[in-house]
Amino acid sequence: MEIDILTLFPEAFAWFERQHHVAGALAHGARLGYVNYRDHTPLRAGQVDDTPFGGGAGMVLRVDVVEASLRARYGRDPVELRRERRVIALTPAGRQLDDALVDELAGEPALTLLSGRYEGFDERVIEHFASDEISIGPYVLAGGELAAIVLCDAVLRKLPGALGHEDSAVEESFSRALEGGPEYPHYTRPAEYRGWRVPEVLLSGHHAQIREWRLAQSRARAERGREAGPLP
Ligand code: 6GU
Repeated sequence: MEIDILTLFPEAFAWFERQHHVAGALAHGARLGYVNYRDHTPLRAGQVDDTPFGGGAGMVLRVDVVEASLRARYGRDPVELRRERRVIALTPAGRQLDDALVDELAGEPALTLLSGRYEGFDERVIEHFASDEISIGPYVLAGGELAAIVLCDAVLRKLPGALGHEDSAVEESFSRALEGGPEYPHYTRPAEYRGWRVPEVLLSGHHAQIREWRLAQSRARAERGREAGPLP
């Protein structure tokens, strides 16, 4: 998996790259690359954004700056690029990221993430250069960098080498192995703490019973989640 991130703040990703599962995925052949819009602006003085036509607050990332950045990285017209490669504009109005979409993206050979700042992108970036528009949830962030980190974290941990135990990503919250439900509760030593006992079945060594208990717990949690209110 090759992921290129176009951003004004490549340094925002340094901490992320040091995380164990990310370093593991990178050691297994995954690659993260960065393109700083500011290095490719055709304008004087490193300008990358501009005021919105029609007025209003904030600044908008310019379409010519995004095109120059994509051309510098891929050597071709971004209008054609998006036919062969997922080019994902990160915006709060996009398709909401969920486990199924993460699986879909983890199956791609390469991704390009466009992070916006300010009030976002000139709409022509989304219309003509992006293959996808993705949001990480129903709230507004000041920029796409945190969204890019969230997306990369979720995708990279699905790849070989990311997790110590290859099964950990299979039977986890929202996966098909758990019928799309949330994960069951976990416990570790001590078996009793302040009088709080770990469920006996987990100490029993009966693997079939443990599996059954976990699935029942996952279903019960899903039920409680539904009672707490519908997802948006
Ligand atoms: Cl991808 N970007 C921004 N700016 N805000 C968001 C988002 C993305 N997803 C949820 N909120």
